[in-house]
Amino acid sequence: MSSVVLNTLEDFYHLLSQSLNDNQMVKLLLSKYRGADKSLNRLSIRPITLQNEPVLSFVYEHQTNHITKNHSYAAALNEINQLVGEDFKSAYLTLSNVEVQIEFSKKGKLKISHHKAKQGQAVAATHNRQKNRFVDIQRPFLTALKVTDKQHKLIPAMSNKWKQINKFIEIFSQALEVSPHDKSTPLNVVDFGSGKGYLTFAIHDYLRHTLNNDAQVTGVELRQALADLCNEAAQTLDHQGLDFVCGDVKTHAPKQTDVMIALHACDVATDYAIHYGIRANASIIMCSPCCHKQIRPQMQSPELFQPMLQYGVHLGQQAEMVTDSLRALLLEANGYTTKVFEFISLEHTNKNKMILAVKKDKVNEKEQQQLLKQIADIKDYYGISDHCLETLLAESA
Ligand SMILES: C[S@@+](CC[C@H](N)C(=O)[O-])C[C@H]1O[C@@H](n2cnc3c(N)ncnc32)[C@H](O)[C@@H]1O
Repeated sequence: MSSVVLNTLEDFYHLLSQSLNDNQMVKLLLSKYRGADKSLNRLSIRPITLQNEPVLSFVYEHQTNHITKNHSYAAALNEINQLVGEDFKSAYLTLSNVEVQIEFSKKGKLKISHHKAKQGQAVAATHNRQKNRFVDIQRPFLTALKVTDKQHKLIPAMSNKWKQINKFIEIFSQALEVSPHDKSTPLNVVDFGSGKGYLTFAIHDYLRHTLNNDAQVTGVELRQALADLCNEAAQTLDHQGLDFVCGDVKTHAPKQTDVMIALHACDVATDYAIHYGIRANASIIMCSPCCHKQIRPQMQSPELFQPMLQYGVHLGQQAEMVTDSLRALLLEANGYTTKVFEFISLEHTNKNKMILAVKKDKVNEKEQQQLLKQIADIKDYYGISDHCLETLLAESA
């Protein structure tokens, strides 16, 4: 790289663009900020992979918080072009084999210098993308929860959990992208039935460490021993803003909640959790229901279905489909865009269905009336008198 010619800003942008194509970029730091936002100190830019796409992650370092925005390479290069020399009077680009410094004097005169990169940057560039997966396998919480060993190697028995954690964070990040929540303000998250805390720690770590969001995350767990265990780990690891309380989703006192999670909460615990999320006007509701006992004994299927339903497994599947469809439709009727899908393949676990709901900006009253009629018709068809979530919503209306 000693043959690099760097005389103009165009040379610099060309080098930067080339380094992205060759996967050689490590970091770009913009400093000496002279723009309008008095709280902004500097901007740190790194290549990462999001949803299998390479992007540049911009971390705006303010006096009291950090704000992250991710851009495609093309959009990022355009943005950097606008910022260097205008808002930021200094730029420091680290590539695998060269480091470049740009300075603008008070009179706007450009000075560019470059020198050989320190050893180790090549390795950093090669591993950059790998390290920036949704969940970094090196994170200490994974070791504390015994997903990885002390050398941060995956413990083979935990490989299904590891896949689930990653998929969960991937889905959450996509939901957050489209949710109406202002990403620059701290998120309040509640995780009902947090169990051993795998997902609670993961979402807290993702928000605080990856997105630099000062999130407050609470795990609510029926079993005191599990809440104690998780609190101990959160304190040892110094996970600020993460706590676990012993409590029941059915009686948990409402508080401001932007994200409601309930993964594998048994039977009607899922209905109580969704009800909590709707009442709290949460921007994101994520649940993975398990055991569908409430509806099954009430269901009266038409004669035509009997040859199919003589096989017990189909009775269970039908109850599950109807229960979760009614939950999804009730969420839609309460102003959420809702998806129901398998979130990891069946080979990893048999509890694989997710109901994901993201708050809409506006509600359409006509659509809501239609949805309520559809819900009533389905209940009528199957002779269902009581659906837990519907009853809870009616009681709190
Ligand atoms: C199958 S575990 C799931 C743990 C975690 N959400 C996960 O997916 O890894 C379900 C957890 O919910 C807890 N639980 C069951 N009913 C609950 C309730 N009514 N309120 C709070 N927690 C509950 C159980 O004690 C258990 O730890």
